[in-house]
Amino acid sequence: MGGLLLRAQSLVERLRPVASSFQEATQRSKAESQRQLESGAEGGIASYVRQHAAMARNRDSSVRLLKRLRALMDAMLGGEMPSDDDSWSDSDDDGDGAEPASALPRRLRAIEQETALLEKRARRLPGAAHGDGVASAPSAESREALLQAETAALQAAVAQPPAASSAESMRTLIAVVELLRAVEGSFEFQAAMMRAHQRLDSTTEYSRDNFAYGSTPWQSWLRVHTDPGCEALTAAVKRCAADDSAQPEYTVFGSSLGWLCFYAALTFSVRAVGYEIVEPLVEHAERIRAQHCGIPFPPIQFHCADMLSAPLDRCGVLLLTSRCWDKPLAQALHAKLIRELPRESVVLDYCADLAAAGGGVDGFKVVGSAVVPVSWDDKQRMVVMQRDC
Ligand SMILES: C[S@@+](CC[C@H](N)C(=O)[O-])C[C@H]1O[C@@H](n2cnc3c(N)ncnc32)[C@H](O)[C@@H]1O
Repeated sequence: MGGLLLRAQSLVERLRPVASSFQEATQRSKAESQRQLESGAEGGIASYVRQHAAMARNRDSSVRLLKRLRALMDAMLGGEMPSDDDSWSDSDDDGDGAEPASALPRRLRAIEQETALLEKRARRLPGAAHGDGVASAPSAESREALLQAETAALQAAVAQPPAASSAESMRTLIAVVELLRAVEGSFEFQAAMMRAHQRLDSTTEYSRDNFAYGSTPWQSWLRVHTDPGCEALTAAVKRCAADDSAQPEYTVFGSSLGWLCFYAALTFSVRAVGYEIVEPLVEHAERIRAQHCGIPFPPIQFHCADMLSAPLDRCGVLLLTSRCWDKPLAQALHAKLIRELPRESVVLDYCADLAAAGGGVDGFKVVGSAVVPVSWDDKQRMVVMQRDC
C-alpha cells in the first residue's frame, strides 16, 4: 500500500501545475472574449467563447481529478471508498457501495491515464512551449530505472568522488539514500503524512495539495549543479564550501525528508539548512542525520517551521521546491526574498515563476537552467535565478 500511496502523491505533484495552467488559460481566454466583444469583432467571438469553454472544462476536470485522488488516498488509509462517482461504479462494486481494496490500483491507473491526457492538452497551451510546469509523466519502468541509475551513480562516486567530497561521504550518502527510500515506501510513514496534511489543512491557510511529496534523484540534482548552463549556481556553491562557520549556507525551502540537504552537505561539503512544515518529514530527516551525519561531515540543520519565518541573512544558495505550493505562499515568499535574500545569493527552483512574477529592477532574472528527470516528471526544467540589479 505504501507504493500505491507514493504513486498517488506523485500524481498530486503532476496534477497541481496542470490545474493552475488551465486556470490561467481560462482567465486569459475570458479576457480575450471580453476584448473581442468590446471591439465589436463579431466574426471571431464564437471561437473565443468556445476556447474559453474548453479551457474551463479542462480546469474543472483537473480539479475533479485532484479531489478523486484525495478521496482515493483517504480510502487507502482505511477510509471509505468514494461511491458517488459514476466512472467508478463497475464490476468490482459489490452493490452495497463498499468497494474491495483490490480496486484501488485500477482506480489509481484510471486517474493516471486521465492525468496524462490533461498533461498532453496543457502542453499544447499557448505559452507552454518549453513545457514548464507540466510534467511528461514517467512510466513505472522509468521510475525504477531512475532509482537504479541513482544507485549506480552513487556507487561510481565512491570510486571517484566529486571535488570537495570523499569516498567516505559518498558511502554515507548511499546509506542515507537507502534509509530515505525505505521510509518513503513504508505505509506507516505515508499514513503519518496524510494525518499531518489533514492537521495542517485545518490549522493553517494552506491547502492539502501544498504539501505533496516528491523526490529528486541525486544524479539529477548533481547534474544541475555541474551543468555548464548553470555556472552561476556552481560558483555560488563553491562560495558556500569552506570550513569556517562564517561561510554562506545552502538552504532548502520545502526540504521534505532532507534529501536535498543531505546531497548538498555530503557532495559539496557545505553547511546545509532545511525548512519543512510537515512534522513526520522533519522527524525522519533529523533521526537519520543524527545517526549518520555527525563529525566529520559539515553541519546539517533541519527546522520544522514555515519557510516564511526562516532567516535568510546567511543564505548563499536557496533551493525552492515550489512546484505544488499555493499561489498565496509563492507570492508571500517572493516578497520575502525581495526584502531579505542577500543580493549575491543564487536561487534554484523547479519553475521560473519567481522571475516571471516580479521582473524589473526589484525582481529576479533567469541566469541558467537544465532539464533533468525527477520522481514525477521525466523532463523537469530546473531554473537558476539571481536578483535583477
Ligand atoms: C515537492 S515537495 C519537496 C520535494 C522536493 N521537490 C524533492 O524533490 O526532494 C515540497 C515541500 O514543501 C513543503 N512545504 C509546503 N509549504 C511549506 C511551508 N510554508 N514551509 C515549509 N515547507 C513547506 C511541503 O510539505 C513539501 O514537503
